Amino acid sequence: MRILLIALLGTITASAQITPKTKIEEIYATYCAACHGAKFEGGQGGSLVDGIWKHGGSDEEIARTITKGKPELGMVPWENVLSANQIRTMVVFLRENEKREKARGATPPPKPEPGKVTATTHESYRIEIVTEGLKAPWSLAFLPDGKMLVTEKAGPVRIVARDGTLDPVPLAGTPAVQTVGQGGMLEVAPHPDYAKNGWVYLSFSDGWKGEDNKARALTSLVRGRIKDHQWTDQETIYKADAKYYTSAGVHFGSRIVFDQGYIYFVVGERGGRMEVQDVTRPNGKIFRLHEDGRIPADNPFVETPNAEKGIWSYGHRNPQGLAMDPRDHSLYETEHGPRGGDEFNLILKGRNYGWPVITYGMDYNGTAISAITAKEGMEQPLTYWLPSIATCGLACYDGTKFPKWRYDFFAGGLAGQQVVRLRMAEGKVAEQEIILKDIGRIRDVRCGPDGYLYLITNAPDRIVRLIPAN
Ligand code: HEC
Repeated sequence: MRILLIALLGTITASAQITPKTKIEEIYATYCAACHGAKFEGGQGGSLVDGIWKHGGSDEEIARTITKGKPELGMVPWENVLSANQIRTMVVFLRENEKREKARGATPPPKPEPGKVTATTHESYRIEIVTEGLKAPWSLAFLPDGKMLVTEKAGPVRIVARDGTLDPVPLAGTPAVQTVGQGGMLEVAPHPDYAKNGWVYLSFSDGWKGEDNKARALTSLVRGRIKDHQWTDQETIYKADAKYYTSAGVHFGSRIVFDQGYIYFVVGERGGRMEVQDVTRPNGKIFRLHEDGRIPADNPFVETPNAEKGIWSYGHRNPQGLAMDPRDHSLYETEHGPRGGDEFNLILKGRNYGWPVITYGMDYNGTAISAITAKEGMEQPLTYWLPSIATCGLACYDGTKFPKWRYDFFAGGLAGQQVVRLRMAEGKVAEQEIILKDIGRIRDVRCGPDGYLYLITNAPDRIVRLIPAN
């Protein structure tokens, strides 16, 4: 009797400790593992990782089973124990585990090796190492003479010769960066008419160290020219008001796309969550400006009082892939989700992409961010990744060396160490394929003017390229 009482008290105390801050792993262990197994393998209740959902396999159906239970089968309803947030987070958690289990059993995606041919669905390629000796390279751009410009996170902008030789001397006089957390020198992009005007654009974490020795930083955009290894003629294209600079170390963005006299670029969320829903703040926005920094008169928020007039779209977390389909000038983006929910989006004027009100992920520590994945007035992603691959770098392949890849999108993944090929058809993702994996963290993806697909990898820090197999 006493033992029973202690056991009962134990259960009650354990239950009482479940708060909104309780990690999903702990909730699972407390409430679910006894019947579904510590490793989701099943027991009195079925396996939750075998991909078989007897009671419906959509997110909504799984959430419903957990909410209402299947009392006639011995599955209790959880609606009075777990919040809607926690039930949604449980679905994300179950999906994460289901996908990981599935990946374990499947044929692994190709890991290319120099000297060998890698076959994919539509094209076969060889991988070549172009450049080594870089330190945390971030972004890659091509000049008309075949040279490449490469940013390194700590600040240097490096020049790489057409044959891949790294110039030992970085450019002098490039802007100082606040290297706090994920910040640093970010995107480099020559103007489409570079041959005529010589402009090169740089985005970076701009800021200062206060008296408390804490860095305050935000993404800024400048352009300048390169003369004999010297960065000159610098002009500021975008710099936010100093009051928006923050000491958070996360989510700077940024990428740059040129189109018909306009420039699109990203300011990341900077950890500001709900600030991204506020168009008077720069965080978590994609901007569109004239190439010299002026605000276009037809930008969506020019009439909105106190708005940042450069905003083109909002509700973004941390976009680090931005690319345009040259056929119809539609703009695509990849952005980092939290734990799950990295997104591939079509970016439209004035639209709200929902972070953090809607998301397909949960917080890194296993707690909820939101109970909902969709809401009126908020855009749905074209696709999302769960588990996250940490999307970084995006290119629309417009070369001719891989004709069967023409106009497919190639998205890099840092944590996922992969490049995903995405084919759009009639406004939807029609094909998705991992064309390579496990050669390092993919930081940037570019279509070279020579038609080869170039990648920046981190750890190992390299530029590599894919060339046709024959
Ligand atoms: C007392 C045992 C028990 C506990 C505790 C329990 N379940 Fe279940 N669960 C079951 C049974 C039994 C079924 C029905 C199995 C069947 O139909 O084969 C089930 C079914 C399910 C299903 C549907 C599976 C499918 O194939 O469609 C899900 C999802 C699920 N449980 C999740 C949970 C979660 C999440 C928890 C913890 C919050 C939990 N369960 C706690 C016994 C339990």
